[in-house]
Amino acid sequence: MSSLYIALDIENKKKALQFLEQHQLEGTAVKVGMELFYQEGPSIIAGLKERNHDIFLDLKLHDIPTTVENAMRNLSRLDVDMVNVHAQGGIEMIAAAKKGLEEGCQGKERPVLLAVTQLTSTDQKMLSEELRQQGTVEESVIHLAKLAKAGGADGVVCSVQEVKAIKAACGSSFLTVTPGIRPEGVQQNDQKRSATPVEAKQQGTDAIVVGRAITAASDPYFSHQQIIEEWNHG
Ligand code: C5P
Repeated sequence: MSSLYIALDIENKKKALQFLEQHQLEGTAVKVGMELFYQEGPSIIAGLKERNHDIFLDLKLHDIPTTVENAMRNLSRLDVDMVNVHAQGGIEMIAAAKKGLEEGCQGKERPVLLAVTQLTSTDQKMLSEELRQQGTVEESVIHLAKLAKAGGADGVVCSVQEVKAIKAACGSSFLTVTPGIRPEGVQQNDQKRSATPVEAKQQGTDAIVVGRAITAASDPYFSHQQIIEEWNHG
């Protein structure tokens, strides 16, 4: 597992590969999300693997256990490094995801299984007033992390703010991967629970996911280097 995944939220394979080449980001760890995967399918994964990128396939599966198990069996054959589900799918669904991954990888290393707790675009107001879920965002995230662990996930996707509490509740080896990363002075966009790379490191997150702070930067190569530098000295 790498410590920084670039979120390739780019519309198609041609533009994504061009972006990586043009900014000398070959061989970096990348996250492929719904936008790119739904456009290109497995061919984007093959293209990135040919170029030696570590891949986090971020499709956030959330369906009945059997459907998720079968989908994960197929995704596991793509030989990606990390995949995820929504923890809100429940323990049985998470366990089914793991079973599908184990069967699909056919003796190769099983992809790391993460469960998304609360999206980093969700804040307290949305949780309480719109979704009408009880308790604080942190309480919900911890509850979902424990549920993810009970289902056999290797870790969770959460915000930097919850990393310490998750490690305390689920153990230090339970992985935390954190998006919503914004270096000082970079726009928040739709992210609500964001943090800087230094804060992420200090809170003990295992890996950060960075999208627009790199992909929309005037110099993505420099921005990537700077974030790694901040992370290394955090
Ligand atoms: O551009 P930005 O750095 O905000 O991108 C964050 C990426 O992480 C997006 O691809 C988004 O889908 C993903 N993500 C997130 N919050 C989660 C899980 C994934 O922002 N909880």
